[in-house]
Amino acid sequence: MNREEIVVSREELERQRAFSGMVKALPHRPRSYHVVTYGCQMNAHDSEKIAGMLEEMGMTASDQRENADFVIFNTCCVRENAERRALGNVTWLKEVRKQKPDMVIAVCGCMIQEPGMAEVILKKYKFVNLAFGTANLHKLPEMLYETLNSGRQTVNVEDRDVIAEDLPIRRLRNDAAYLTIMYGCDNFCSYCIVPYVRGRERSRDPETILREAEKLAEAGVKEIMLLGQNVNSYGKGLPGNPNFARLLKRLDEVGIPRIRFMTSHPKDLSDDLIDVMAGGKHILPQFHLPVQSGNNEILKKMNRHYTREQYLDRVSRLRAAIPGIGLSTDIIVSFPGETEEQFQDTMSLVNEVRFDSAFTFIYSPRTGTKAADMEGIIPEDVSTDRIKRLIALQENLQQETLKRFIGTEEEILVEGLSRRSKLAVSGKGRHAVSVTVEGSEQDIGQIVKCRITGLKNNTLTGERI
Ligand code: 5AD
Ligand code: SF4
Repeated sequence: MNREEIVVSREELERQRAFSGMVKALPHRPRSYHVVTYGCQMNAHDSEKIAGMLEEMGMTASDQRENADFVIFNTCCVRENAERRALGNVTWLKEVRKQKPDMVIAVCGCMIQEPGMAEVILKKYKFVNLAFGTANLHKLPEMLYETLNSGRQTVNVEDRDVIAEDLPIRRLRNDAAYLTIMYGCDNFCSYCIVPYVRGRERSRDPETILREAEKLAEAGVKEIMLLGQNVNSYGKGLPGNPNFARLLKRLDEVGIPRIRFMTSHPKDLSDDLIDVMAGGKHILPQFHLPVQSGNNEILKKMNRHYTREQYLDRVSRLRAAIPGIGLSTDIIVSFPGETEEQFQDTMSLVNEVRFDSAFTFIYSPRTGTKAADMEGIIPEDVSTDRIKRLIALQENLQQETLKRFIGTEEEILVEGLSRRSKLAVSGKGRHAVSVTVEGSEQDIGQIVKCRITGLKNNTLTGERI
């Protein structure tokens, strides 16, 4: 597809703005909204765009879904339980609506983009007023207008790879912001549904990204998180080869105090990127690098295009260039056919690398992916046992790895009051580990300097300096 087909035209966006106005002018339109978000940061950011569009239609945010006139579920389908939870909650709301018959219910996001899901909504979830996939997000004003005006169910799913710029955004935080640099994924890891529901990889124009970053800097944002399914392959198909290393270097010049990014693919992690990080002023010393498995045969079956040895090489290179770097990962246990020995390779890799944190998952078959047709489904009790052993190992190691921060100075971006104490606040340090320090509500959104003094239940504690 060429660029004109991917980037949504100005005329179309204007058309949608006109629909926003038309929704706003409807006498019996919803006055309040609530967005329920499942899944990754990409979805969280899409929800901020949904909220932005709804506010343009004259709605205000409601804290609780049962009190809102318009409730929208932004779904995830990366694992079956995410999907089950979303559908369960949608069905629960159907009961709540009996007391509030004017409530409008919408379901959107990755789950709706799955093959066959539109039919399921049409047949089994007739009470859902509006459903649409990720490719239709920017058309929310038009779709909502149609639903409200006709009183009929609207289900709208398209198989298009789009980039919609300049949508209104209602950000969840003032101090930290998401900034998408690319959409979709071309990697087709054999277990993963994302390339099927989020479409082909496509990058935003670098100048547009820089302008957005500059605006965020002017607004006083202290941290940006660059988003993409595989940020390391940013720039493919754009003129002038603006690769991720070069983009990051330019963003570092904007002056936002903290820059992070996710997610990275080990096969695309270049030495250039590591050099830019090492020489950067504002790029945080942290890296989320999903390994998925420590066994070469499983990695091959996963279609990951790297070996255990190559992964370990990337980790060594990162650690040599950025001493003390914070490392986190994603791991899947019980991929089809995984033997105990192969699982032990994952355990030994975790032992060797010593991550600061690890997100661990039991393999979940997703219809339409290559792995869903593979033989060797692992029984549930074996999977549960494996993930328990992996989590226990990681927690033990984490106690050790986090000790390296004790005695050091950290800058924390305060996220909120600590759950354990009223006199404390917590936030993330530059290495992406959580730190609790004395403080009050006034510190939220501020960068606070402290010395790390202790470690309690895998959370660091510090004293202000
Ligand atoms: N089953 C289990 N985990 C999965 N992930 C992606 N697809 C699946 C699946 N089918 C995990 C991977 C990925 C993270 C976001 O979710 O570890 O990195
Ligand atoms: Fe899924 Fe692999 Fe793409 Fe990540 S890189 S979104 S795991 S296909």
